Amino acid sequence: MTPEEFRRRGHELVDLIADYRSGIAARPVRPPVRPGEIKQSLPALPPEHPESFDDVLRDVREVILPGLTHWQHPSFFGYFPANAELSSVLGDQLSTGLGVIGLAWQSGPALTELEEVVTGWLRRMVGLSDGWSGVIQDTASTSTLVALLCAREKASGFASARGGLQGTPAPLAVYYSAQAHSSVEKAALLAGFGRANLRAVATDASHALDPAALTAAIAEDRARGLVPAAIVATTGSTASTALDPVAAIAAIARREGIWLHVDAAMAGSAMILPECRWMWEGVEGADSIVLNAHKWLGAVFDCSVYYVRDSDLLVRVMNTSPSYLRSNVDGEVRNYRDWGIPLGRRFRALKLWFLIREQGVAGLAARLRRDLANARWLETEVKAAEADGWRVVAPVPLQTVCVRHEPAGLRGEALDAHTLAWVERINASGSAYLTPAKLDGRWMARVSIGGLLTDRAEVSALWARMRDEARGFSP
Ligand SMILES: Cc1ncc(COP(=O)(O)O)c(C=O)c1O
Repeated sequence: MTPEEFRRRGHELVDLIADYRSGIAARPVRPPVRPGEIKQSLPALPPEHPESFDDVLRDVREVILPGLTHWQHPSFFGYFPANAELSSVLGDQLSTGLGVIGLAWQSGPALTELEEVVTGWLRRMVGLSDGWSGVIQDTASTSTLVALLCAREKASGFASARGGLQGTPAPLAVYYSAQAHSSVEKAALLAGFGRANLRAVATDASHALDPAALTAAIAEDRARGLVPAAIVATTGSTASTALDPVAAIAAIARREGIWLHVDAAMAGSAMILPECRWMWEGVEGADSIVLNAHKWLGAVFDCSVYYVRDSDLLVRVMNTSPSYLRSNVDGEVRNYRDWGIPLGRRFRALKLWFLIREQGVAGLAARLRRDLANARWLETEVKAAEADGWRVVAPVPLQTVCVRHEPAGLRGEALDAHTLAWVERINASGSAYLTPAKLDGRWMARVSIGGLLTDRAEVSALWARMRDEARGFSP
């Protein structure tokens, strides 16, 4: 494709995206497609000869768009808000169009230095001190893996330089709440700790990690000869946005000499609001933090910001220095290849930079405050409908409201079946989209508010629909 063709097709594609986004509310949030249907409408074999780009765009319109669950839809209440603010979309397009790769500072000086600047901006925005250094990873899963690899190396006296975990005299243990995201367990397994040495610590009534249970688990492991290596605290758990008590956990980590990683993948965005910072009070006592700018904040996926206290340790663990990547400025610059797992990196900073500049901190804060107010509104409505069997089943510190409709006499698996059925009726209707989850062993509906286009009107329409669908139940 020549630059001139690209210009023409690029304009068409931007038009397509703009039309998609401006008309998105008219689409069913979840597509009415069956597994395999989309594959069937696409050729199994690649084209032998060039195809017209018109045909490609036609397939995008006719096959791809109708086959999507629309995360940017104003009635998308599933998983978590993954806001793709259009200014950030442009930043991502620019990154792709420039086609530069950060292998070393010299392979893209502006790529590296903008990442330093923009992670510094975000650090200030969320109220972290200047003792933290930031790097953009692809996802929180990767960030947490990086954290646990660093914790493993610190606790083992950098065993990877010797016999690795196989050469350590005692097993290393990792602690996290039973409500931690699945990526934490996965990272601990991938980092080689071994399932036998992972501790899913009990939570309290608000589903937050219980520090007394953590202390007991650590003491028990030490008595058995294990070496406690890492604690992962969650600020804003996935199921219910529970808030682990970071200050108490940090005090334990400090006393015991254990690495503390804070997973604020979802809730980290809220820390741009000073009134929310109590939620991770004590975070300055952690060793590493992850917050996903690609969730509620509005940067296009993938943009997971990882902050570390001791960047020298990170570089020591992740460092590679083959001759072809060395340069005579290595002592003066950041080589981000040594700050994570992949060698190459995209120019991800652009999409965060565009977002922050176009919205301003005040614009971002205003939107998040709107979402918090909408969640509080829904919480109040559900609580007021208690007589009809509605219940808010977890505290609502943020934008997620966890609810259950509990008709009199319905318990156990029958109650689960009722919950899953009314949620599925809503999802199948295409009018809104919810992702239920288990809490305390029972299914509940999570209403995750916070889409760019989600206003009170959509939340209110969802609440009306929830009551209609749940009322359909006859015991
Ligand atoms: C608390 C928490 N941690 C981690 C993750 C994983 O995020 P990612 O997809 O960036 O790996 C999520 C995603 O939902 C999450 O809610």
